[in-house]
Amino acid sequence: MFSHSPGPIGIFDSGYGGLTILHGIRQRLPEYDYMYLGDNARAPYGSRSFEVVYQFTRQAVLKLFDMGCQLVILGCNTASAKALRSIQQRDLPEWDPDRRVLGIIRPTAEVIGNLTTSRHVGLLATPGTILSGSYELEIAKLFPDIRLSGVGCPLWASIVEAGEADSPGADYFVKKRIDMLLRKDPDIDAIILGCTHYPLLMNSIVTHVPPGVRIIPQGEYVANSLRSYLDRHKSLESMLTRGGGCQYLTTESEEKFSETARIFLHEQVNVKHVDLG
Ligand code: DGL
Repeated sequence: MFSHSPGPIGIFDSGYGGLTILHGIRQRLPEYDYMYLGDNARAPYGSRSFEVVYQFTRQAVLKLFDMGCQLVILGCNTASAKALRSIQQRDLPEWDPDRRVLGIIRPTAEVIGNLTTSRHVGLLATPGTILSGSYELEIAKLFPDIRLSGVGCPLWASIVEAGEADSPGADYFVKKRIDMLLRKDPDIDAIILGCTHYPLLMNSIVTHVPPGVRIIPQGEYVANSLRSYLDRHKSLESMLTRGGGCQYLTTESEEKFSETARIFLHEQVNVKHVDLG
């Protein structure tokens, strides 16, 4: 069904957020080729049902496989929380048992124990990720002594998708949710940005988080975890092309994507429109 030649590493997100993961991964693993897919036409995913996020994510993974990727990273917490397990257990064995799809919640949970002293950790994420309970589950398995408090931020990803990350309106909504989180647990000393769109709001986030509280974006940790995964899975690694290139795909207009992506990546990107489903 799919080609068995080496291909790029696919990175998928509902929209622009996964660019923060792509950036972290390319910094750490610059030698590979990448293919980024943003489902911008249907973003945000954060308030959508389990079934819809699963169907959309499944279509995106199929598209990346079809375009030659042997490995796909869900650079989206909402998709990792709601679709990863079904794709790994239900779809992959049927599609092609040699291909891999990895998420980004587990790699974040794995490092959190080293990033908190008070053992009180905050989570800012989409309502879907918060409701899924995936972070509680993963962290409890690894660090049962950590108390996690989460707050859903329904508007943040939409603000980023609209290119309004540095506006006064964005600042108002960022402050509101951070205050809510710190009221929930004043002993928090580390906050996970559990949505890949949120590092794009960092200018505002840092002004509302008290000194001494660590802000944790995921890019670097996901990249380290991928490095170690590839070191342990040599046959998959041998199916990755090397060249340092990146092809961008969007379900929205090419002009809109390249204009907004340029703001985040500080470089001109070569993007192609694709349809999913
Ligand atoms: N960036 C995604 C995440 O990490 C999803 C944001 C959205 O589409 O609502 O959860």
